[in-house]
Amino acid sequence: MDEIEVEFEHGTKPHTARCYDYFLGGKTNYAIDREAALQALNANPHAMVAARQNRGFMHRASRYVAKETGIDQFLDIGTGIPTEPNLHQVVQDVNPRARVVYSDNDPIVLAHARALMNSTPEGDTAYIEADVREPDRILEYARKTLDLSRPLALSAVALFHFIPKEDDPYGLMRRLTAPLAPGSALIFSHAAIDLDDGQMAALAEQYSRSVTPTRLATRQETADFFEGMELMDPGIVPTSEWRMDLDNDAIPHQPGTVTAAEAGVWAGVGIKH
Ligand SMILES: C[S@@+](CC[C@H](N)C(=O)[O-])C[C@H]1O[C@@H](n2cnc3c(N)ncnc32)[C@H](O)[C@@H]1O
Repeated sequence: MDEIEVEFEHGTKPHTARCYDYFLGGKTNYAIDREAALQALNANPHAMVAARQNRGFMHRASRYVAKETGIDQFLDIGTGIPTEPNLHQVVQDVNPRARVVYSDNDPIVLAHARALMNSTPEGDTAYIEADVREPDRILEYARKTLDLSRPLALSAVALFHFIPKEDDPYGLMRRLTAPLAPGSALIFSHAAIDLDDGQMAALAEQYSRSVTPTRLATRQETADFFEGMELMDPGIVPTSEWRMDLDNDAIPHQPGTVTAAEAGVWAGVGIKH
């Protein structure tokens, strides 16, 4: 599907990927997405800061996993519209042989997948348009590029708050992690209900009304996604507090200048037993 067809099909309804792109300062969004994003900013003036902190966590956590665990294969679900550096650029900077499979359910991400495919010659990248509610299909596709008998890192960053309870988000996570080898990692973040005085709840309500159903989680509910895993230091913390000592955040930010309430998203990395 080319970009014009995507606009024809999707320019009439805001989408999370394009609202997030707007918050990150990207240009791959339509008037309808910008309108929804501005309504989100009205509901929670920290929405843009929260998106950028989340992206910064993704950068730091994926680089940390590539460096500290030696994991050289990544499955990133809910990839988002390409925004440099993308995950493969971060991890291939550590290990040029790293292999990355991307997946998202917004066709516009597929239209820009070329940017996700510029792997190093030694490594590899692949992309599948799929919904996280199709875990078996995603894993089957991932097997063509990744070796599931060896540890890999599953990245599900700012994705699961878009999975309604009735679609069994914890069950989906179990189905995604069950086939992974011991030593595999989970890089995860989830919009929080218990970090602020209701601004995230207002944002979720507005998103649920005009973009997509959005559900928030407490710190414990976020930790519950890591069943069968050991959390790496510092555990579940706001994105703005996850290993700010690491110097790989492409989004400039001085540690301590963004509060937990402004970040509004829980984050953590776990290793499978
Ligand atoms: C907030 S963005 C996060 C992008 C990236 N993971 C990051 O953290 O920088 C959420 C992404 O999840 C995708 N998404 C939402 N619901 C999804 C679903 N059910 N299955 C797959 N992807 C989904 C959206 O299209 C969007 O690209």
